[in-house]
Amino acid sequence: MKIDFDSKLLDKLPDILRQNLEKNLCVCNEVPKIEVINAIISGATTVEAVKKQTYATMGSGCCTQQVERLIECLCSAAPGKARVSKRYNQDD
Ligand code: FES
Repeated sequence: MKIDFDSKLLDKLPDILRQNLEKNLCVCNEVPKIEVINAIISGATTVEAVKKQTYATMGSGCCTQQVERLIECLCSAAPGKARVSKRYNQDD
């Protein structure tokens, strides 16, 4: 699958989220992570908007947290300054 956006946008993502871009983030509906990222970068900045564009989260909803995390990272104000919420901080 072609990545058709400025790859610097991926710098906003923690290393773990930059991996396996071609693999399904939403296994219920077979939606690759890169498709979700493309949707967010194209303006789908809520889970509902991502759902409408990609069908991710429309199965059992088990990927909703991952979609929320991608939105949080990609929509943060400054590149490379993604917020890390407490629930994702494994150092605690
Ligand atoms: S993995 Fe996306 S709804 Fe289940």
